[in-house]
Amino acid sequence: MSTRPRQIHLGCFPIHLGGNVGAWRHPAMQADGSTSLAFVLNLARIAEAGKLDILFIADSLYASENSTPFDVNHFEPITILSAAAAVTTRVGLVATMSTSYSAPFNTARQIASMDRLSGGRVAWNAVTSSNAGAARNYGGEPQMEHDLRYHVAQEYIEVVKGLWDSWEDDAFPRDKAAGRYVDFSKMHRLNHKGEFYQVQGPLNIERSVQGRPVIFQAGASEAGRQLAALHADAVFSNRETIEECRIYTADLRDRAAKLGRPEGELLVFPVITPIVGGTEAEAKRRAQELNELLDPPTALAFLSRYFNSYDFSGYDLDGPTPDLSGIVGSSNRSSAEYLMRIAREDHLTLRQLAYRAAAPRGDFTGTPEQIADRLQLYFETQACDGFMIATDISPRGLSAVVDHVVPILQKRGLFRTEYEGETLRSHLDLPVPANRYV
Ligand SMILES: Cc1cc2nc3c(=O)[nH]c(=O)nc-3n(C[C@H](O)[C@H](O)[C@H](O)COP(=O)(O)O)c2cc1C
Repeated sequence: MSTRPRQIHLGCFPIHLGGNVGAWRHPAMQADGSTSLAFVLNLARIAEAGKLDILFIADSLYASENSTPFDVNHFEPITILSAAAAVTTRVGLVATMSTSYSAPFNTARQIASMDRLSGGRVAWNAVTSSNAGAARNYGGEPQMEHDLRYHVAQEYIEVVKGLWDSWEDDAFPRDKAAGRYVDFSKMHRLNHKGEFYQVQGPLNIERSVQGRPVIFQAGASEAGRQLAALHADAVFSNRETIEECRIYTADLRDRAAKLGRPEGELLVFPVITPIVGGTEAEAKRRAQELNELLDPPTALAFLSRYFNSYDFSGYDLDGPTPDLSGIVGSSNRSSAEYLMRIAREDHLTLRQLAYRAAAPRGDFTGTPEQIADRLQLYFETQACDGFMIATDISPRGLSAVVDHVVPILQKRGLFRTEYEGETLRSHLDLPVPANRYV
């Protein structure tokens, strides 16, 4: 780990291919971007040119008439990130994969393979998949209840981590003269027999050059936070205000410390949508332009993502928000609870709530200096360790950050001017974990 002062980490989060679910209609947007190889590779190259820590690919496993444009048509993360690995050499690659709908052996293998082919630049964003519809695509059993999903995820991640230690670092001598390819004394079977999984091992791929791929997590419910404290190296969050970010980060750090984890080994990344302008007025105009692309049906589709694809079509947009507390418990719990709370406290109509959910927050709209000041304030007051940058208009929004905000942070000594190492752990200043068997 580095001895220089802590620096901001930055990732690119092109989830909606634009800052809101209507952004694909903007004249500067490539409307087929979410399934265009060239489009995603270009984002990866821009992220790397800006020395960003990561390119993040989100995922969902269900589509319906109520889905957003992104959810109905996008790449599977491992596939597209493997392509991105081939045209980049430094930027970290974060793939979202669910712990509810595949075997841990598959995930361990796919992530380990991609990690190997990228030279140790991969992270797994472990999600439990909150949308009940996904269960109907995987055998038809009803979706597991919220806390059970997290309980399963805990064992799932334990198995994956165990499989990643199957081989000691020097298990493959590949000694041609002696005819010795592998040293089986350095192979370890996991022999896991748990509540949900029985996995013998070993994994059939050698250990990562970064010790283990990095693990991200994003759940913010009680169960989600506890999982993060136990297993994650980093957390994505959608907390809104700086105060909420501080409280959330402090809570996660506190939970990790109580589990005996050293300080600085659980990083927090709120998602933000910077809207950069040459002047504040220009930035505001761009934000307004983006908001005008949101129409009520798309805003409602976005809202329904948080409530198991709930169908809002029968409701009066200008009436009060319906009480969805029955759905909150089973779905995307922390975000759904938050939305219900603000609807109640601020007396929001359904239309207002949908726009609050679907439009980016305005506090990162401004000149490059203003945005850099805000990032610095969050970072220096322990609201977070870095940021996931959701672009307003892709790739323009990412280029604006890379070309205009990053240089200011670099001048202030808050962001790297060169990658210091080759692996994602090295960019994130995370230690290389020892193999449990050594
Ligand atoms: C920034 C961010 C990104 C996320 N990305 C994904 C994703 O790509 N796929 C997914 O299924 N869930 C994703 N989630 C959802 C979380 O994994 C989790 O289900 C959700 O935050 C609810 O967690 P909770 O029930 O613990 O509150 C994301 C959440 C956040 C905050």
